[in-house]
Amino acid sequence: PFGLTLWAVLGYLLGSIPFGMVLAKLMGLGNLRDIGSGNIGATNVLRTGSKKAAALTLLLDGGKGAVAVLMARCVAGEDAAQLAGLMAFLGHCYPVWLGFKGGKGVATFLGLLLALAWPVGIACCLTWLATAAVSRISSLSALVAACASTLWMLVLGFSSAACLSLALTGIILWRHRENLTRLRSGTEPKIGSKKS
Ligand code: G3P
Repeated sequence: PFGLTLWAVLGYLLGSIPFGMVLAKLMGLGNLRDIGSGNIGATNVLRTGSKKAAALTLLLDGGKGAVAVLMARCVAGEDAAQLAGLMAFLGHCYPVWLGFKGGKGVATFLGLLLALAWPVGIACCLTWLATAAVSRISSLSALVAACASTLWMLVLGFSSAACLSLALTGIILWRHRENLTRLRSGTEPKIGSKKS
């Protein structure tokens, strides 16, 4: 139990690093809260006009989910890996450093899936890309990929992680409630558009 607590704390701390916010500040792109949707994720970083900062944010936010899972699995096994992934995701969405007002969890979700069950991670990334290719809307692509994740878990033989992906999908839907309102009213901006 002590081991699991340790992985929960480490996962949370790793996940709570707001890479988008930090990179935007370091690269002189401004405060993400005043830009676009105000979110700290790669989609909103792209609205600053810097593709480099957006790509780095995607990589680092995804990477922290993957690293949390891989470290915990390597040292403490599969249960610790799932817990560390969950806590990294929660750390990204609810970071103590930003008054628990963090991101929407999509990149971290994809990163932890790739580490936890790589075929599912790849299937979800492809689901995101396919939806984005058709719609050009990041939030819609994230919602479709998240909703498909549990199905992919079951179909691809990772049913032991299906509960985790279901729980994370629920949180992703909740974190996208403003996007859902905009999607319903047809005002959600396309990828790369400066407006939100
Ligand atoms: O990954 C976040 C994305 O799904 C939505 O971001 O900034 O358009 O609300 P944003």
